[in-house]
Amino acid sequence: MRLYRSMIFGLFVVVASAMLLQIARAGGNYYPPVSDALVKEECGSCHLAFPPSMLPSTSWQRLMGGLKNHFGDDVSLDPASVSRITAYLTAHAGDTGGARYAEKLLRGVSTVDPPLRITELPRWLKEHRKVKNREWQQQEVRSKANCPACHRDAERGYFDE
Ligand code: HEC
Ligand code: HEC
Repeated sequence: MRLYRSMIFGLFVVVASAMLLQIARAGGNYYPPVSDALVKEECGSCHLAFPPSMLPSTSWQRLMGGLKNHFGDDVSLDPASVSRITAYLTAHAGDTGGARYAEKLLRGVSTVDPPLRITELPRWLKEHRKVKNREWQQQEVRSKANCPACHRDAERGYFDE
């Protein structure tokens, strides 16, 4: 009888946490952060290691194929690193492994002519329309790609206000 009761309780805990997780996700502000050490190191030194679910996999392929001219910087890597990082990013991209997180952000985004920037996605632009020019130009911000300046928990994957 005791065993039976604790099983029921265990089931309750599982169901309740699954529901809480759903609620958290429904907010749409969670994008799992990069969990791969190599990607964090090579793609997180100049800016936030952007969550792979924020772009479709073809965007990551395009970015990884053009590291010699990466928005004006040469960020070339050895071929082994390139293929490992590409594999990680594409596996967790917004239209593959990260699809359940990126549904809204990537709605209507072309995977044939994929964007290279998160900050050019229609949904991103829409969410940031209210941010004033003056705020973008502040010392601590400077670039739209500097997500953590405004989203304090960006490193942990949360992009609330
Ligand atoms: C040497 C510095 C440096 C490294 C290393 C680097 N980047 Fe960048 N990255 C930049 C710069 C500079 C920009 C343009 C930022 C801006 O517009 O303010 C950028 C922009 C980006 C953007 C577009 C951001 C936006 O506007 O939405 C993505 C995506 C990106 N990088 C991915 C990567 C990936 C993936 C790697 C690892 C392979 C990487 N970066 C490594 C310097 C770097
Ligand atoms: C200058 C400050 C600023 C920067 C830099 C910034 N954001 Fe935001 N972001 C905001 C504000 C403010 C909102 C809330 C808009 C609203 O709720 O009306 C927002 C909203 C969002 C949302 C939607 C959250 C929601 O409530 O649904 C996402 C996702 C997001 N930002 C991602 C990013 C990413 C990714 C970057 C970097 C590439 C970034 N932001 C850079 C200020 C910023």
